[in-house]
Amino acid sequence: MKTLVCVLACLCVSSYSLPPDKMHAFHIIKTRSIDLNNAHGLAMESRLEKTLEPTAYRLELEPYLEDGVFKGHVSINVTWLENTDEISVHCAHEIEITESEVKAFMPSNSKELLKIPIKKMSTDPKKPIVTLRLERTVPKSSVGFLNFSFKGNMQTSSTEAFFKTSYVTDQETERIVAATQFRPNNARRMFPCFDEPAYKTPFELSVVRPRSMVALSNTPVARTEDINGEPNAVWDHFERTPPMSTFTLGLVIADLKQLGESTHYKDDNGNNIELRVWGRPEYLQALEGMNEKVAQVFAEVANFWQVPLPLTKLDIVALPNYQGVKPADNWGLIVFKESEASSRGLLQLAAELSHAWLGALASPAWWSDAHVNKALVGYLAAEIAFKINNGSEMEGKWPMTVLYSLYYEFSKRYPHSRITGMKQETACTKIELLFRMFNYTLGGDTFRKGLRMFIESRKFKTFTGDDIWNALNTAAVADGKIPSDLDVKTVAKSWIEKDRLPLITVNRNYETNSAMVTQKVYLRERPHDVPDAAKMLWWAPLVVARSDRLDFTNTTPVAWMRNHRELNLINMPDKDHFIIVNPEEIAPFPVNYDQDNWNLISSYLQSEKRTKIPELTRAKLLHDAWNLAYAGQLSFATAFNMTLFLKHERHHLVWDPVFTMIDHVGRHICSSIHDKFHTYVRILLSPLYEELTKDVGEDEESWRKNLRSLCKTFLCRAGYEPCVREAREQFAAWRAAPGPDDGNPISNQYICPVFEWGSEQEWDFGLQRVINFPPSRKQSERTYLLKTLAGCPIDEYKIEKLLNITVLEGNGNFTETDLFLIFSMLTGSSQGYTTLFHFLNNNWDTLKEKFASKTNIWDNLITSATSEFKTQAGLELVSNLYVAHQGEFGSAEHIIEKSMRNIREEAKWSAENLPVIEKWLDNYINNADVKDDQYIKKLQ
Ligand SMILES: *[C@@H]1O[C@H](CO)[C@@H](O)[C@H](O)[C@H]1NC(C)=O
Ligand SMILES: *[C@@H]1O[C@H](CO)[C@@H](O)[C@H](O)[C@H]1NC(C)=O
Ligand SMILES: *[C@@H]1O[C@H](CO)[C@@H](O)[C@H](O)[C@H]1NC(C)=O
Ligand SMILES: *[C@@H]1O[C@H](CO)[C@@H](O)[C@H](O)[C@H]1NC(C)=O
Ligand SMILES: *[C@@H]1O[C@H](CO)[C@@H](O)[C@H](O)[C@H]1NC(C)=O
Ligand SMILES: *[C@@H]1O[C@H](CO)[C@@H](O)[C@H](O)[C@H]1NC(C)=O
Repeated sequence: MKTLVCVLACLCVSSYSLPPDKMHAFHIIKTRSIDLNNAHGLAMESRLEKTLEPTAYRLELEPYLEDGVFKGHVSINVTWLENTDEISVHCAHEIEITESEVKAFMPSNSKELLKIPIKKMSTDPKKPIVTLRLERTVPKSSVGFLNFSFKGNMQTSSTEAFFKTSYVTDQETERIVAATQFRPNNARRMFPCFDEPAYKTPFELSVVRPRSMVALSNTPVARTEDINGEPNAVWDHFERTPPMSTFTLGLVIADLKQLGESTHYKDDNGNNIELRVWGRPEYLQALEGMNEKVAQVFAEVANFWQVPLPLTKLDIVALPNYQGVKPADNWGLIVFKESEASSRGLLQLAAELSHAWLGALASPAWWSDAHVNKALVGYLAAEIAFKINNGSEMEGKWPMTVLYSLYYEFSKRYPHSRITGMKQETACTKIELLFRMFNYTLGGDTFRKGLRMFIESRKFKTFTGDDIWNALNTAAVADGKIPSDLDVKTVAKSWIEKDRLPLITVNRNYETNSAMVTQKVYLRERPHDVPDAAKMLWWAPLVVARSDRLDFTNTTPVAWMRNHRELNLINMPDKDHFIIVNPEEIAPFPVNYDQDNWNLISSYLQSEKRTKIPELTRAKLLHDAWNLAYAGQLSFATAFNMTLFLKHERHHLVWDPVFTMIDHVGRHICSSIHDKFHTYVRILLSPLYEELTKDVGEDEESWRKNLRSLCKTFLCRAGYEPCVREAREQFAAWRAAPGPDDGNPISNQYICPVFEWGSEQEWDFGLQRVINFPPSRKQSERTYLLKTLAGCPIDEYKIEKLLNITVLEGNGNFTETDLFLIFSMLTGSSQGYTTLFHFLNNNWDTLKEKFASKTNIWDNLITSATSEFKTQAGLELVSNLYVAHQGEFGSAEHIIEKSMRNIREEAKWSAENLPVIEKWLDNYINNADVKDDQYIKKLQ
């Protein structure tokens, strides 16, 4: 299967109806920091020779904000670790060193500070490293100073390193902002330094600032000093910092004002810190409530770690025109984009505050360890944000959103093949979920104890992933929370090392009250011939909930799947009671059962007692069932049975997987079952939708709004009459408008239903709008119209007409890009690609000649017209075409061959599953006690 991008998602060029997380293929993972994407490059970076190490920096900086330049002086206290006549420091090529000096106390004469003459200073042309060749060798254990004077330009095209940006105030005056963002290795772009996380030293920073502005850094200002002959500028001397890495050094100079009063946070753990929030004066109102949020989140984070921060103040800045992908998390000075600072959620704030401990107090030893850091921070932030917001953060959807994307990605034949660059992100998400798994399986107390031990032992130092796993293990062993032949690191590694997840299958034996548990690689998309699949094994916790003593609070595993393939669980309940393995998605794996256990679960879910099973587990059962059926591991009849309880279900989390199911299953069934499937969708969704349209309040929760809009979109596509009627009424207003090309007066949500279910005249009207689309209007609106014109219709006539005009007639109003768009939209439904196929077949010679010199269009046409068939009948169509035109496919020869191979796989699936689906649907439709009378027939 080429793509799983949902048809609806493709149609959503604007964010009108689907929530943002539905707009992409799957719930694409939230934006993450740049350092992960760079991790590979950084891991390769050449490091400094360990011949000497810094012990302190004194840095004086004079920025000239108007001109965007700066000069400075740094004096670095160092200790020699080796005898050497060479010194290397990081220094970017854009920094010019104007003076340098080396002085040392030799061990032989520790009273006298010797100046060591420099023979030569050289810059490596390929690396940001400056090397000083000395006149003499300085012996090991000497201490001394490196002094550099330097100058450089502030960055203006990005908000990285030492940058300058500006904004315009309400009074139309332009204001300058200067600030730093040194993560991961940008400190060297401001001053010569030992720019690696492990070199942790105190910093003494002094900076010149305009008298009218505020300068903030990691520590409070110790004193401010006038400058002779400079009435408009002063020196700010900041207090000495605790030992820290260069990348956590920070500076902001801007017209800032503090929001309200500082919060003085003091606790029994030894924290004693001022928390302050800053913004430009005009923006302070938007930051209202921020002090309280910061205080609340800081208290939670501090209480989690119970190791005090060695800081006396922490500033949160909403910086105008800050463009960073993520906040600048300097230690004690966190810089946000304005919009992020004022957003309602707490997740990002919780993550940044957690960084003050994990990241700054203890830092990843190298950027390859940044993964684990990021994952743990991500996990803690989610837990903390959830706790404070009572689960309303992200509509309560964490960890579903990230977890489901992992299930889809890792079960592909080629994970990460479509979106490069996502690999690091998914790897990180998986580790985040492993922390969640250990929190459950070791228990919260042990988990926290382990992490506290870890941070206590690594504070002012660096750590690797193993340090965390080992600390958790020590706590788990001490508390007796892990079997003696297991250790946390081995368990974690078995999950981290593979881009795959296991499928756990549970087959109960009702005679002996036992259950045979097996594991294998979880594969969803066909073909399932993945190399080495047989060798992959995971150490997986088996937490079991059972209906004879229902308890979802005990999350201790009854057993661990070690690196073996099967395990027999004894003392299971009798045949009248179900078991649920891995409730609450404690570990990231789907679970399959024997049919009897599925049926026991299904009946229970249909009863009043349903809500005794928490909603995340209800969602999991449903999500697992249909995905396993989709993967060919479970009968669709059983999977569809698992949707019967939805009749009574009203929790939005449980409905979340339903829409993906309708989309995925919908595109896998052939035209003959489509009407029945549509009927099923209408019966399933309309009661929920009708309920959600009652009593819509101004201040309703966002989940409600999103759920209603999803229901409506899917109902419309399934021909739900009230929706189609409304859409056509709206559309009529557009048709009646005097200048229909001046703009589109109706909401995008109405367009697709009209093109799908409406008349040919209505569709034609849309086509004319694309043809006449004025160049002055936003092209994205034209694209949206064209996508819907191609992707929404279910009748051949409209599709064929579009192809006649754009391809055969070569109407000049359409570009080649439009053709690609049309082809790709047609792959989204069986009517679409079947019509495209017939079009290709009927016009073979014309098309062949037309695209003779345009192989990319030709290849795309062959792909779109042949690759999506899923049945034996489809295979015959494509094979006949292949035989009829053998040798004429040119560059697309291998494409059609590949299509036939794939269809053969899919056809096997279809032959097994489509009859089952049809039979189940027939049964359901005939028995359903809801009458499906709100159905629109297609108009001619
Ligand atoms: C560097 O060392 C000197 C001499 O020991 C000391 O006076 C100075 O304070 C140190 N510099 C910093 C920034 O700590
Ligand atoms: C070099 O550093 C030392 C120690 O900070 C300082 O006393 C001295 O003045 C510096 N030399 C120059 C030339 O700035
Ligand atoms: C969460 O619940 C607590 C206690 O029930 C309440 O004080 C607090 O206001 C709630 N917070 C939110 C964001 O709803
Ligand atoms: C589906 O559920 C019905 C009753 O609700 C049951 O009779 C049938 O056996 C189930 N089908 C499968 C395949 O589990
Ligand atoms: C498309 O063009 C073909 C051949 O020119 C013609 O037979 C067919 O009727 C046209 N279809 C539509 C819907 O216009
Ligand atoms: C655009 O389409 C119209 C109507 O089909 C046609 O008359 C016109 O020539 C086309 N414009 C171009 C540039 O081909």
